[in-house]
Amino acid sequence: MIPRSVIDEVVRRTDIQQLIGTYVPLRRSGSNYTGLCPFHSEKTPSFTVFTGNHEGFYCFGCGVGGDCITFIKKIENLDYTDAIRFLASRVGVTVEETQDERKGPTRERIRELNIAAARLFHAYLLDEKTGKKGMEYLTSRQISPATIKHFYLGYAPEDPGTVGAKLLKQGFTEEELLAAFICGKNSRGLYDYFRGRVIYPIVDTTKNIVGFGGRVLGDALPKYLNTSDTPAFRKRSTLFAMNYAKENCSKGLILCEGYMDVITLHQAGFTNSVATLGTSITDDHARMLSKYTKTVYLSYDSDEPGQKATLKATGALEKVGIDVKIIRMSGAKDPDEFIKKFGADAFGSLLTGSVGEFDFKLDRILAAHPRDIPEELIKASDELSSLIAGYSSSVERDLYITRVCQRTGLKEASLSEDVRRKIKKNSNIRARRDMSDAVSIANFLGDKIKPEAASNVKAAAAEDTLLALLMMYDEYRAAAARGEIQLCADDFPTAFGRKVFEAVMRLESSGGFEFSLLGGEFSDEEMSRLEALRVKREGIMNGRKVLEDAASVMKEETRKIRNGTEASTGSGDALADLLEKKRRALADAKTKKS
Ligand code: GTP
Ligand code: MN
Repeated sequence: MIPRSVIDEVVRRTDIQQLIGTYVPLRRSGSNYTGLCPFHSEKTPSFTVFTGNHEGFYCFGCGVGGDCITFIKKIENLDYTDAIRFLASRVGVTVEETQDERKGPTRERIRELNIAAARLFHAYLLDEKTGKKGMEYLTSRQISPATIKHFYLGYAPEDPGTVGAKLLKQGFTEEELLAAFICGKNSRGLYDYFRGRVIYPIVDTTKNIVGFGGRVLGDALPKYLNTSDTPAFRKRSTLFAMNYAKENCSKGLILCEGYMDVITLHQAGFTNSVATLGTSITDDHARMLSKYTKTVYLSYDSDEPGQKATLKATGALEKVGIDVKIIRMSGAKDPDEFIKKFGADAFGSLLTGSVGEFDFKLDRILAAHPRDIPEELIKASDELSSLIAGYSSSVERDLYITRVCQRTGLKEASLSEDVRRKIKKNSNIRARRDMSDAVSIANFLGDKIKPEAASNVKAAAAEDTLLALLMMYDEYRAAAARGEIQLCADDFPTAFGRKVFEAVMRLESSGGFEFSLLGGEFSDEEMSRLEALRVKREGIMNGRKVLEDAASVMKEETRKIRNGTEASTGSGDALADLLEKKRRALADAKTKKS
């Protein structure tokens, strides 16, 4: 048995996007990455790698998914333990099965190593010969010598035997170089992790160099390489340039997507800018931002993925009480390009002209539907009334109704009426959705993992929601463990659901739940299914109310089946008919095949 502390460490240190990126060329798509699925043949990418709060991979084409261990199991054809060993050696963790204590380079040692490495990178950049290409690149992007010094930018030479070799001579060990991701190791020995890249040191709020981002000079992929998590670095709770921005955050912080955006913004005087490190914003980021400021200006890329990421970030930030202002940028794809095209003053005007969440959504709806076409105006009006109906304060709703009517020429009375109707509709929508979701019935039919699901779709769907939320949120597992949310295995309608629930709660009470630990007892197919459950809950409402509703629906429905008081979906209704039809079609197909 591999101790769970080792598994945790291996998973924590593995950057899933980088890992999968070595097998599958990945392209950034908003806060995620996509590529061609390595497990089935396809021409358009439906294979997605998730970063941020939810780490994992999922193919929307063939349904294969899971965590980094599942991925290695499948792609390298290894069992669970060997997959962990494979990943461990890649990230420099020693797997000793008997002893539980992890020995490895300390956080202090890694910090020292990072400082030494940063000095080397910086010196290489300034060296006329070695750093020529790096310097030319930064100059071409209008980065000044003062900015290079301020951010302590560097350059990693192309020769893979440069930086590591120097640091070994300075007294650092191979183990330390591997643990800090300064070096990797293959059959030919140690090699530099960053090669031919411009280096951006990542500094935490207590001024330690915790890691590095490295950008290629050309168009090669991956565009960025980042240090994976180490004892000194947690990517999901670190923000680039927060060490400077925290001194200047009285008027709010500017959150961007990219390193280069932040560097350019600081150079232009906006020293309150920060960026996440290639992952989407996490709850940890949001909490950290809320410690420093009340207002965050979102300045993501102006393309569609950037705008989608803006919506997601708005949710995460509002949850921790931050007042979100969204910057609306046109004529440039990101803040870096904007400032270089239009100047710092123009960016200042963007800050002044930034809008709240409602206006951002309003703009998006109006942009999608040209108002001079009557059909489009109707669509816009429909979307707007839904949007407004989602606000619980009537004062707010009235304000928005007036604003929309001023901009669109719609009549206040009509829009108000539509909003009222939608509010009413919303209140029954959840109950109805469970029943009328014919798609979910079809999904459950012939389901090998949950064979009992088709006979109680409502309970099985609630079970899926519940399991996903328990896997995704620490606070919900804690609430279930404390008995605040009363659940026991018998409340779950399927054998699979019971098994998952029991495993999750067992892990929770013995050292804490981690998704990756499930791989020890669930098959790849089951892991794919569990990943699918999580993916389905990504970016939608997952509040405590959703959890509680799912629990009560599931318990109620499961109780009904157990007591035999109600035939699965009730006979005579449309749902049962459909179910029966599908069931017969499936049976027919099976007999034909055999
Ligand atoms: P430039 O192209 O130099 O202007 O970079 P950018 O900072 O504008 O990058 P982009 O908008 O493409 O991506 C935003 C951020 O996402 C980057 O700063 C990185 O942190 C991250 N990112 C982009 N591409 C990759 C990648 O291939 N791998 C990883 N790990 N992160 C990436
Ligand atoms: Mn850019």
